[in-house]
Amino acid sequence: MDLLQQIKQNASQHNKRIVLPEGTEERTLKAADIIIEEGIAQIILIGEIATIKSEAERLGLKNIDKATLIDPKNHEKKQAYAELLFELRKSKGISMEKAIALTEDPLYLATLMIKSGDADGEVAGALNATGDVLRPAFQIVKTMPGISVVSGAFIMIMNDKQFGDNGMMVFADCAVHPNPTAEELAEIAVATAKTTKAIAQMDPRVAMLSFSTKGSAKHEMVDKVVKATELAKEMAPEFQIDGEMQADAAIVEAVGASKAPGSPVAGKANVLVFPTLEVGNISYKLVQRIAGAQAIGPVLQGMAAPINDLSRGCSVSDIVNLVAITANQAAGM
Ligand code: ACO
Repeated sequence: MDLLQQIKQNASQHNKRIVLPEGTEERTLKAADIIIEEGIAQIILIGEIATIKSEAERLGLKNIDKATLIDPKNHEKKQAYAELLFELRKSKGISMEKAIALTEDPLYLATLMIKSGDADGEVAGALNATGDVLRPAFQIVKTMPGISVVSGAFIMIMNDKQFGDNGMMVFADCAVHPNPTAEELAEIAVATAKTTKAIAQMDPRVAMLSFSTKGSAKHEMVDKVVKATELAKEMAPEFQIDGEMQADAAIVEAVGASKAPGSPVAGKANVLVFPTLEVGNISYKLVQRIAGAQAIGPVLQGMAAPINDLSRGCSVSDIVNLVAITANQAAGM
């Protein structure tokens, strides 16, 4: 059974409630229909109810009547959610009028449902940009205890099976935090190791990447990665984490052996942690396009509840897969 089938099967055992705030969008509706049909998760769709129903009929979808439908402008918990939002954000200057207006925004409503215990996770982004999906999540759901930064990991499935574990690797941060400090980078490394174990189901061997291997170059950017490596090892001694190292030293056995002899990670890394978002985002896209790797994600990590962001170019199966991953994350919390 391949990884995605396994993730879907695990999800179906937990029957989590996943909210899809872009509930009238065609790919989202088609994905919801499949998810319900296959029993991957319970689905909550946010959108004007008449539109959801007429779209489902137009598309010939048979299962949408089993989803919970929430009209953002008119539902029974609107006032309670507005009060919750006001409480959470009054120190940031939000007014009650603004809080009421924001509960009608499906992206805010979805996170308020999660915060209130009315949903277990969210998948959005087929219509909305990353920042618009993430901002309400940061403001309302916030990070896990002990974590200050959310980041995004990709499970990369390579055609060339010599890399990672039989061609599977995890890359991070490729999606969220532009320029992490050493402390934040250490948190990202530990969160990625946990994602690797929980979602990719591999024992992580984490390489902290730089343009230097074990002191071969001197620069403040290298110092950041050296410090992050030390901190990450202290934070999670149970994981194999090593750095700083260059990408070839991380993934090519002969280069790892010559540049970082004795490293438990060099030459056999299955997790690559990038020093900035620029490097991570560019790298995953190059590997996806040039090497033809399948990129599953981004899986957002570090949030107090699982909220995941789609690419606006996503397919129906991308949405189904990300809902299954989100349900697995919810089950592990
Ligand atoms: N983790 C946790 N909380 C965060 C993070 C983070 N990484 N970043 C911001 N926050 C919090 C802030 O602390 C703040 O909380 P507060 O309002 O309670 O004080 C809140 O979020 C808003 O913070 P801002 O700094 O105002 O955040 P902003 O909205 O400007 O930016 C964002 C956050 C949208 C995530 C920004 O960092 C961003 O645009 N990142 C890049 C996303 C992106 O475009 N990725 C590439 C595309 S994705 C892809 O290709 C797969």
